[in-house]
Amino acid sequence: MAVNLVNVEAVSKVYGTRALLDGVSLGVSEGDRIGVVGRNGDGKTTLIRMLAKLEEADTGRVTHNGGLQLGVLTQHDSLDPTATVRHEVIGDLADHEWAGNAKIRDVLTGLFGGLDMPGFPQGVDTVIGPLSGGERRRIALAKLLIGEPDLIVLDEPTTGMDVTARQAFWATMREQADQGRAVLFATHYLEEADAIADRVLVLHRGRLLADGTAAEIKAKAGARKVAFDLPADGTGSGTGGTPGTGIDAALAERLRALPHLTTLDVSGHTVRLQSTDADATVHALYGLGLYPRNLEVAGLGLEQAFVAITEAEEARTR
Ligand SMILES: Nc1ncnc2c1ncn2[C@@H]1O[C@H](COP(=O)(O)OP(=O)(O)O)[C@@H](O)[C@H]1O
Ligand SMILES: [Mg+2]
Repeated sequence: MAVNLVNVEAVSKVYGTRALLDGVSLGVSEGDRIGVVGRNGDGKTTLIRMLAKLEEADTGRVTHNGGLQLGVLTQHDSLDPTATVRHEVIGDLADHEWAGNAKIRDVLTGLFGGLDMPGFPQGVDTVIGPLSGGERRRIALAKLLIGEPDLIVLDEPTTGMDVTARQAFWATMREQADQGRAVLFATHYLEEADAIADRVLVLHRGRLLADGTAAEIKAKAGARKVAFDLPADGTGSGTGGTPGTGIDAALAERLRALPHLTTLDVSGHTVRLQSTDADATVHALYGLGLYPRNLEVAGLGLEQAFVAITEAEEARTR
């Protein structure tokens, strides 16, 4: 059994009359890689602040395992703009001390491509003030990782990073996780959660709608996507319909009547739909005498699953 690091029990937070968090419970254990997803304003930052005990819950309880070393990267770093990278990240260690420290070497190499921090005008002696948001985030993260926390909590960590920085960042986080650290991060990039997290928490208007693997979340969305091409008259017989023209309104209307549809998008000859029972939908398609070409049936991506789950919730509570 992995050691439990943090417990969040029925935590709620209200601002004015609005619930920022509403009865959220979750546990974080050693080795967890948790992605918290939600739209802007759904409560990700609030949850992170409660979980890290940066802020008190109105009701409910947050417990940290005794001796927990927590490293938190909030949305706005607290780096001193007048300080150098050296001062913020390495502190007062002499060059021969930090350059001989495997931990510091690993972190600087992983996040910046080398001890001399190529890409930064004066390497470790670069002053922080004028750096970009993405650079500052990497510096704040380096500082945090050198402290060797048991649990790393990151709020929208890759905001402002370019593709290269983002990849270096996630490679570093994977290494950290492989060394046994737990990682919990909030993101609105669902593909990041899909790729990195082994557990995804879906927040929606302050409530936890789902907590499971990306595969479980996709299954919970309960839909699959279907794509195919249709000639203009849909029969594929080559008669009727004009080559080069798209699917006409009458045919689109028949498609809209297919069973179990949740979405339908017709573009030229191509139809894309989501269905809560893709087998039955495809069966009905043939039943209409239509002849789909290039048929593809696939599970939803995490982003589509997220939209399906949150829209179902919106419909339920409307
Ligand atoms: N101290 C506060 N005062 C007023 N509104 C707040 C405060 N803290 C958070 N909010 C609001 O609560 C909602 C949830 O915020 P947040 O947790 O930051 O969401 P997320 O990080 O998912 O975008 C947002 O609409 C935010 O504007
Ligand atoms: Mg936020």
